[in-house]
Amino acid sequence: MSRAWHRSVLGAAVLGMGVLLTGTSAGAGSVDKTPFGNTQDGKAVNLYTLTNDRGASVKFIAYGGIITAINVPDRWGKLDNVVLGFKELADYESMNPYFGALIGRYGNRIGGAKFTLDGTQYQLAANNGPNSLHGGTKGFDKVVWAVEPLSGVSGAAARLNYTSKDGEEGYPGTLTVQVVYSLTNDNELRIDYEATTDKPTVVNLTSHSYFNLAGDGTGGIDDHILTISADRYTPVDATLIPTGQLASVTGTPFDFRQGAPIGARIRSNDPQMAYGRGYDHNFVLNRSGSGLSLAARVYEPRSGRIMEISTTEPGVQFYSGNFLDSTLIGAAGQQYRQTDGFCLETQHFPDSPNKPSFPTTVLKPGETLKSTTIHKFSTDAS
Ligand code: BGC
Repeated sequence: MSRAWHRSVLGAAVLGMGVLLTGTSAGAGSVDKTPFGNTQDGKAVNLYTLTNDRGASVKFIAYGGIITAINVPDRWGKLDNVVLGFKELADYESMNPYFGALIGRYGNRIGGAKFTLDGTQYQLAANNGPNSLHGGTKGFDKVVWAVEPLSGVSGAAARLNYTSKDGEEGYPGTLTVQVVYSLTNDNELRIDYEATTDKPTVVNLTSHSYFNLAGDGTGGIDDHILTISADRYTPVDATLIPTGQLASVTGTPFDFRQGAPIGARIRSNDPQMAYGRGYDHNFVLNRSGSGLSLAARVYEPRSGRIMEISTTEPGVQFYSGNFLDSTLIGAAGQQYRQTDGFCLETQHFPDSPNKPSFPTTVLKPGETLKSTTIHKFSTDAS
């Protein structure tokens, strides 16, 4: 399968967005910027707030492109922050389990922390047992992005740019990356990714928010009703590397096709659940064509909030926050316990550089990686 297969329609989407972002009108959203401290090596980091004309907002910082808050209404119209995060930049720098971060160059794991491309073997940092996770020691979650605020006719947006040097974290090629965060007036957080390279390389970009639709700090996510549009998932070995098999979800705790509470089968004795201490698996999305298609829907019954995720990517990693262990204190002052948040990371499959049968993550000079994911927030009252 060529890289262009699931990327091609995005040209139109990005063009459309360009018009949107350069326009202005009464009632358009706003982009605000405030200082958020300095990194340990002295770089100033700003906090940006995108606010749409319905009062919803998304906050992010230039460090790691980290989304620190998503404030959206419940069924009574009350705004709450639905993502986990810290108060201070120092916490994001020293102990962040990827809360809200942009992930690259390679989201999720590469087995044995190495891969071969065009006959050359590339050695990566083994930062997760024997494997390389989320781009290595200093991935895109730990660099300061250049941010350009953009205001548009519908909502608000900002563009983030980062150029990763040839050889950075062991990956070949200078990779030029652009990510646009847009908050539309339909309460959609839209994330558009683009990347180009000057040498063949591998890329898998994603966003790593931990959600709790009842509100950050309100407890566990067991009661959230999750639907995933996937007939198959990629089973893993004990180090969470896919075996290469695309297994049916039928009769397993991975069958979310009809919607099920996250907690209903999380303690099942399926051996796959032991490997990840819960859900930490890539689902093979049911797709028709290469455009945006619905990947997942999450409903939180107490608040009435609904999040629908559409993507151009072929997979989504469902991670149920299993490695949160009460040692981290969140922005609202509460401890984060196991399963206090969940991630749905749209992506190409883990370890694709070593799995020729998976959709390719190779990017070549002259090609442009284009990928889009939309998180649409609504409620059972709307
Ligand atoms: C991975 C988990 C990992 C987590 C780190 C997820 O994308 O699949 O295994 O623990 O990121 O926060």
